[in-house]
Amino acid sequence: MTDAKSTVLILLGPPGAGKGTQARMLEEKFGLVQLSTGDLLRAAVAQGTPAGKAAKAVMEEGGLVSDEIVLAILRDRLGQPDVARGIILDGFPRTAGQAADLDKLLKYTGQNVDAAISLEVDDEAMITRVAGRYTCAKCGEGYHDEFKQPAVAGVCDKCGGTEFKRRADDNAETARARLEAYHAQTAPLIAHYRALGVLQEVDAMGSIDKIAADLGSVVERVSA
Ligand code: AP5
Repeated sequence: MTDAKSTVLILLGPPGAGKGTQARMLEEKFGLVQLSTGDLLRAAVAQGTPAGKAAKAVMEEGGLVSDEIVLAILRDRLGQPDVARGIILDGFPRTAGQAADLDKLLKYTGQNVDAAISLEVDDEAMITRVAGRYTCAKCGEGYHDEFKQPAVAGVCDKCGGTEFKRRADDNAETARARLEAYHAQTAPLIAHYRALGVLQEVDAMGSIDKIAADLGSVVERVSA
């Protein structure tokens, strides 16, 4: 097992690329902590915090929430002790400004980005993935109508929960807006991390297990 103490990984990829699915698998395998800004924002929306109220409409339209709000909620989360085990940033950074803020934060904590992993996928397939997605309402485990169903219908493999939910932004129209935001504002970060020498590109059109194996090899290599 890799010493994951200070590992910092970034998962880059459009909506539906499998960032959340793979981050949860890496979390289990390597003892890292998944930090999903999407999940943090959805929690803020559900709690009705000021940040959540400001983010709600933007998320429902498929746009990007302001860097200021995203950074504030991420900074709060990074203040919790479990992150010392190493982190997988899922959905952050998403803009040049967020990448610059992350560099500053890591400089302060004496860390570096070990790998920015770009999940390489096909846009049209992403719409199908997003539209069929649902999660366990109790533990958040992700499923898909076609590609990943629970072993026992209606029962979560992970926690035994029997209630499932779908995200408000998981419809074809909003997914297209999210894809546009990805290409306009986030995809340029691939060049940024390539220039820093930490970019790893992984074909994310295969099976979930094959992609997990490829990602596992990357993580073992960069955190050795
Ligand atoms: P966020 O929650 O980050 O959503 P996203 O980036 O659009 O990504 P998704 O969660 O849709 O996809 P994923 O890549 O995690 O795929 P998953 O593993 O679930 O952000 C939501 C919103 O919050 C944004 O639109 C924005 O408004 C805001 N936001 C968040 N972060 C922000 C930031 N930093 N700055 C500004 N705004 C921010 O997989 C999808 C489905 O496919 C699942 O059902 C899964 O089972 C299935 N699947 C996965 N892999 C495979 C495979 N290999 N084959 C077949 N099916 C697969």
